[in-house]
Amino acid sequence: WPYYAAALAFGYLLGSIPFGLILTRMAGLGDIRKIGSGNIGTTNVLRTGNKGLAAATLLGDALKGTVAVLLVSQFYGQDMAMVAGFGAFLGHLFPVWLTFKGGKGVATYLGILLGLSWQVGVAFALIWIAVAYLSRYSSLSALTASLASPVLLVLLDQWQLAELFGVLTLMLWAKHHENIGRLLKGQESKIGSKSKPAT
Ligand code: G3P
Repeated sequence: WPYYAAALAFGYLLGSIPFGLILTRMAGLGDIRKIGSGNIGTTNVLRTGNKGLAAATLLGDALKGTVAVLLVSQFYGQDMAMVAGFGAFLGHLFPVWLTFKGGKGVATYLGILLGLSWQVGVAFALIWIAVAYLSRYSSLSALTASLASPVLLVLLDQWQLAELFGVLTLMLWAKHHENIGRLLKGQESKIGSKSKPAT
C-alpha cells in the first residue's frame, strides 16, 4: 500500500496547483475568486475577458491530470495510474493551499481521462463542444460530458475505468450544485457573458 499512498500523494500535489488563480494573479487581474462565480477554473477566467489566459488555465488544469496519470503508468502500470489520477482530481477539488476550496474539476477530469482512455477523452471534449454550441452553458456541457463518459467506458468494456470515472462524475456534479440550481431556474450565465451569475 505505500506505493498506492505515494501515487495518491503525487497526483494530489500536481492536481492542487491552481493554474487559474496563479495565471490571473501573474497577469495582474487580481484574485479570480473575487470575480464572476468565484471559481478558479477556465470558465471564470474567461469572464475576465482574457481568452489567452482562459486557454492557458484549461491547458494547465488538464495537463496536470494527464501528466500525473501518464508518468505513473509509465513506471507502475494502469492501477497505480488510476490512483494518481484520483489523487490529481482530489488535489484540484480540495487543494490544501486554498484551505481545500478548489475548482469544479472539468479540465482536470478531461486531462485524466485523456491519459487513461484517450478515445473517451476525445468523446468528452466533443460532447462538451456540442452542448456548449447548442446551449452556451459551460456547466451544462460539463455535466453532460461527464455523465456520458462512464457510460462510454462501460460500452468499451473498461469496467475499472468506468467505476473510477463514475466516482469522479459524482464529485464533479456535487461541485456544480450551485450551477445546477441556476440552470434549473434559468439563471446560469452563458459562455462569453461577463456578468456575475445570479446567486
Ligand atoms: O463546468 C463549468 C464550470 O466550471 C462552471 O464554472 O465559473 O460558471 O461556475 P462557473
